[in-house]
Amino acid sequence: MTDLRTRYLGLDLRSPIVASSGPLTASVDHIARLADAGIGAVVLPSLFEEQIEHESGEMDRLYSLHNDSFVEATSFFPEVDRYESVIDRSIALVEAATDRVEVPIIASLNGTHLGGWIRYARLLSDAGAAAIELNLYTIAADPSRASGAIEDEQLALVEMLAGDLEVPVAVKLSPYYTSLPAVVAGLQSAGAAGVVMFNRFYQPDLDLETLDILPRIALSTPEEVRLPMRWIGIVRDHVDISIACSTGVHSGFDAAKVILAGADVAMTTSALLRHGPEHVSTMTAQLTDWMSEHEYAAVAEMRGAVRRSASNDPEGYERANYIGNLANYTSSFLGRHR
Ligand SMILES: Cc1cc2nc3c(=O)[nH]c(=O)nc-3n(C[C@H](O)[C@H](O)[C@H](O)COP(=O)(O)O)c2cc1C
Repeated sequence: MTDLRTRYLGLDLRSPIVASSGPLTASVDHIARLADAGIGAVVLPSLFEEQIEHESGEMDRLYSLHNDSFVEATSFFPEVDRYESVIDRSIALVEAATDRVEVPIIASLNGTHLGGWIRYARLLSDAGAAAIELNLYTIAADPSRASGAIEDEQLALVEMLAGDLEVPVAVKLSPYYTSLPAVVAGLQSAGAAGVVMFNRFYQPDLDLETLDILPRIALSTPEEVRLPMRWIGIVRDHVDISIACSTGVHSGFDAAKVILAGADVAMTTSALLRHGPEHVSTMTAQLTDWMSEHEYAAVAEMRGAVRRSASNDPEGYERANYIGNLANYTSSFLGRHR
């Protein structure tokens, strides 16, 4: 019997396959189907800093309308009571999902600035979220702000959030840092219980006829798993916190690869959007089959079995691979095109 259990953010999960934040985790029915198919945990869609700040402003405006009116006239302003904010909806989703399924429900916040909005993480954890995932999605477009200043602000945000909450905090990262190992080590010191590697950035396109900028959301492909897999292998030995792989996990074989590289869980969104929640059972069967064929009785045994050793020279290894690959490609190309 293969033992798929894993620990992530201090939580005991029955399986390392986790549904990452996305449209499928926005509905309780889909979450129930994911749970029936064997998912280890579910991350809900993000609550965005901008949405929260906008709504707080709107609520202040509506309440000030009330305050400016005569007491007898307040019944003419029913919108304040009826107003169901995005925060209410997120809390309701956490409550409904935790009522319906046994697997841990992780709530997600998306923002990068220190501010009042992060107090909403407490409401989500009070509603039953087993952990909070903080997505640090940002496009650094201001040339006057150097990377160090942006990273310091991110670390301060994590420190404040992790210090304030009783539930663990995971940080979802972009792959675009000059030194990812230093950033992950900094997050560990700031109190993060884990990192999610990585956020996937949606690249806008340009319509050459209308010159409009087109938002494009394209689902990932399995080839994309190589980026997080490489970095997880590099980072694993330098930190003790949990690591989740996100991007390009489409099958149980992809999950096996990232666990071998050192991930505690393999998260997936695109594959579930493409094939439906029941794809989790296929992924689980693929992972279990691979493990039995390769004589791994438990996920705990295979985690990190193939990674860069910290005592080696990972930078030298990466450059040697890079140079070797280019040289091989060039000589085989020249061999074919004399
Ligand atoms: C339509 C869509 C919506 C998403 N919404 C969120 C979100 O609200 N918060 C978040 O952190 N990630 C979000 N993601 C990113 C996924 O959680 C995941 O990190 C990304 O899709 C890469 O994983 P994949 O290759 O398995 O798709 C979304 C992805 C898609 C495709």
